[in-house]
Amino acid sequence: MSPLPIAILGSGKGSNFQAILTAIQAGRLNVRPVLVATDVSGAGILDLAASAGIPTMVISEPKFRTRLSTDVETALAQQLKDAGVELLVLAGYMRLLKSPLLEAFPRRIINIHPSLLPAFPGLEAWKQALEAGVPTAGCTVHFVDGGMDTGEILAQSEVPVLAGDTAASLHARIQVAEHELYPRVLARFADRELP
Ligand code: GAR
Repeated sequence: MSPLPIAILGSGKGSNFQAILTAIQAGRLNVRPVLVATDVSGAGILDLAASAGIPTMVISEPKFRTRLSTDVETALAQQLKDAGVELLVLAGYMRLLKSPLLEAFPRRIINIHPSLLPAFPGLEAWKQALEAGVPTAGCTVHFVDGGMDTGEILAQSEVPVLAGDTAASLHARIQVAEHELYPRVLARFADRELP
């Protein structure tokens, strides 16, 4: 089976993208990243992509903080189509998606979120979990729709909240789970198990 062409969209350090790269290099994941795009110039994910020889793109959005302008998002969708992308993988991307991308890639955009959705959508979900005093946190991979972390859930991993946890220690433990979960779910798309 030919490797599934994917693009990664991220705003941060890119540890989930690194986990995907590691799985590809280990022969556990039959995908081919054709583009890494970010809305944050200087984001760590760019250096990781460059080191791996994957083309990168910085999206410039002067108007909005929580989404892209329609014209910017339309141009991005076209670039992804032109690059032959079949699955768009959000990895730490911190804006909402709108109709240009959602309509260009129906059920072909997935995201990883650091909570057991539907609990704790939005920013710094691990902090929300800690403040709520729940005994179990975790992470979720889901299809992306127009809401904030609301799309259909594909898989989840649970992570215990331990006595003495800080926001940083809990997020670190959740990220270990993310790095195992995301490549595993991606493999189901790569193996054409998910429609
Ligand atoms: C991850 O913990 C991811 O779940 C979270 O951002 C972090 C990115 O880390 N995403 C969200 O909160 C999306 N709502 P990374 O850049 O090291 O992959």
